[in-house]
Amino acid sequence: MPNTSRSIPDEWFNRDFAKQWDETAFEGNHARAEHLNIILSAVQKEYQAGKTILDLGIGSGQLEAAIFTQRPEADIVGVDYSPAMLELARIRLRSFLEQCVMIQHDFTDLESLCLPQKQYQIAISVQALHHIPHQNKLEVFKYLYRILEDNGIFLLSDRIAIDTTHLSHIYTHFWEHLEQQAQIKSGWSGEYYVQQRLPQKADYPATIEELLTLLQEAGFYAACLHLQMDRALIAGIKKA
Ligand SMILES: C[S@@+](CC[C@H](N)C(=O)[O-])C[C@H]1O[C@@H](n2cnc3c(N)ncnc32)[C@H](O)[C@@H]1O
Repeated sequence: MPNTSRSIPDEWFNRDFAKQWDETAFEGNHARAEHLNIILSAVQKEYQAGKTILDLGIGSGQLEAAIFTQRPEADIVGVDYSPAMLELARIRLRSFLEQCVMIQHDFTDLESLCLPQKQYQIAISVQALHHIPHQNKLEVFKYLYRILEDNGIFLLSDRIAIDTTHLSHIYTHFWEHLEQQAQIKSGWSGEYYVQQRLPQKADYPATIEELLTLLQEAGFYAACLHLQMDRALIAGIKKA
């Protein structure tokens, strides 16, 4: 059992934290594999050679490594503010660096973000936008809507806010069910995850309703493709 007496900050600028996150990304996130697979399958079928995929919060490049395995001709731009995570991504993607531009930038400051001039067909963001306040999420969605081509696709996988006050015991049971089924186990009990770990997090998850509303406000057609407890995969399509 983990030590529950202290909070668990996300220290993306700390190299040890980044390495540890990279090594344990699937622990305690029972939907991650399914979300990455759905995104990969969409990219496999939809990506048009010559166009570009943008990943906001590219992190250590786990998803990109899989994309390049399937679509070695892909062109990708990844944004992330953590030098430690980008360093891991550069190592992981070393054979594809000419096709994968990485930009170190904070996406709460979009005004100064200088993306290469490309035809952005697909945007992706996995487990990154819950780190920024809702107003910034809306700005990110509007930005993506602006830079994507008509009918461009946005795939957003993220941790969402759930009502752990009123549905605590239900979520606790569900967590334990998911943990039991999981191939990669965290070893966390449902009680620890729902009552201690989630409330300790210093971030800004939105409810599924809030995310869909923000995406629609930015102009997207939006739908939830997959929802499992506090993890959602949402698709947005830029209206032509
Ligand atoms: C949980 S990791 C996910 C990485 C990757 N998307 C994946 O799923 O493998 C979250 C990433 O978001 C980045 N991040 C968080 N807040 C950010 C911000 N305001 N601007 C840019 N990157 C940010 C972190 O540095 C980290 O690499």
